[in-house]
Amino acid sequence: MYSAEDVKKIVKIKLKGYKFVLVSNREPYIHMHTPGGVKCKTPAGGLTAALDPLMQACGGTWGAGGSGDADRENVDKHNRTRVPPDKPEYTLKRVWMSKDEVDKFYFGFSNQTLWSLCHNVFEKPVYNKSFWNGYRHSNKLFANAVTEEIKNEKNAFIWFQDYHLALAPKMIKKANNHKKRKIVSAHFWHIPWPPYLVFRTCPWAKEILEGMLANNLIGFHLKEHCVNFLSCVEKILDLPVDYKKLAVAYDERRVFVKNFPISIDFDVVSTLAKKPGVKKEMKKARSPNKIPYKYIGVGVDRIDYTKGIIERFKAIDRFLEKYPEYQNNFVFVEAGAPSRTRIPSYASLNDEIEKTAEEINWKYQTGYWKPIKYIQGKLSYDELLGLYRTADVCIVSSLHDGMNLVAKEFIAANVDRTGILLLSGFAGAAEELREAVIVNPFDIEEFADAINTSLKMSRDEKKKRMNALRNSVKENNIYKWVYDFINETGRVMKG
Ligand code: G6P
Repeated sequence: MYSAEDVKKIVKIKLKGYKFVLVSNREPYIHMHTPGGVKCKTPAGGLTAALDPLMQACGGTWGAGGSGDADRENVDKHNRTRVPPDKPEYTLKRVWMSKDEVDKFYFGFSNQTLWSLCHNVFEKPVYNKSFWNGYRHSNKLFANAVTEEIKNEKNAFIWFQDYHLALAPKMIKKANNHKKRKIVSAHFWHIPWPPYLVFRTCPWAKEILEGMLANNLIGFHLKEHCVNFLSCVEKILDLPVDYKKLAVAYDERRVFVKNFPISIDFDVVSTLAKKPGVKKEMKKARSPNKIPYKYIGVGVDRIDYTKGIIERFKAIDRFLEKYPEYQNNFVFVEAGAPSRTRIPSYASLNDEIEKTAEEINWKYQTGYWKPIKYIQGKLSYDELLGLYRTADVCIVSSLHDGMNLVAKEFIAANVDRTGILLLSGFAGAAEELREAVIVNPFDIEEFADAINTSLKMSRDEKKKRMNALRNSVKENNIYKWVYDFINETGRVMKG
């Protein structure tokens, strides 16, 4: 099993003499004003949660957009702060954007164009020239911030994260294109990459691909995403692609593309789940009133139309209708963290989720029992782990998802091996987590039956499946993901 120590070692060996810089839009620590003074919070979302342990293990600099209202007061004159605040291990370099810049770059091109273009959920991407210009402009801001960080370095390794930064690699390579400094860069794209027939609709497809091909290595979660990307490169840029080696010749170099399924820190989650505080939360979740719930289901999401929350609620409705013995006995707790609410489709989704939950509750509720408990906001970690541990079923019903780390977190927290994971076949995680109950979230009838199957499953069967899932997540943890990525970077940087 890979550990933080292995990551430290591989970084030392493969990136010897290179300054390590990671770049993402979302920052791992956000300073916020609260009535009790300035607090440092962590955001919802898999990317930052997955990469923070890596940065804590190997140090370096993480460049990211400052998004907290107290962020500017908590940096030095170079816009840097050391994190985590209680045990500093690495440097966070903040990049500033005005409201208008954030509107065009983050709410605009990143999340109304690229997000919908890459997820196959039939949400039409918005093609708006001013979003595109804003995206280019903000990518330049990130590129400038990185260039500032490496100006005194001979060699640097820059690791770009995700769809917000497709153009920055080319910008940085161009700005540092002189003999004095060697830059190796890699990009991990955390969301799916669409097929050519979809991607070609983007008016700026060519520039996006060229921006990314400035990297030495490009990573996706699944092989299918790699092949989609290469076929876009082949057909849109007319470049020779080697599908066997997953590489493309570009600008007198070879750019490699490879799949690396991201994961979590299994040991940490599993250990924290055994804390006494979590036990208390388990009791509270199981018996908030005098009579304990017989069956509990849990869902944890950023509120996003890709997560299939409405479909999940519809399946619960059908399940209660078709299997009435669960009425009064089954409660589904949905913890939804608001996200990207300035975008109309996200704001209306939140209303729709509330309305759907209310309608279903109205249809079935008796006495104090309601089938759906919708909690808006982020739970404390003890509450979350308590819910995971006590739940009979965790439902991840993404309509399309790069990976989905909630699925893996639930498995790591399920130390009693009594829960079942009901997982969409359209989440990247389904490729590895074969012992989950897999569903098509669009098929409400099949989905309703799958909830019944999960709850009816014998204790032995649940245990057998959970043991296999736990072994798989334990083996393929976040440290293995980083190890493999850096190892591959070391291999490809030679040519
Ligand atoms: C997904 C994306 C990440 C993003 C996260 C949270 O996991 O791949 O890049 O950080 O969602 O979304 P947000 O828009 O809040 O950063």
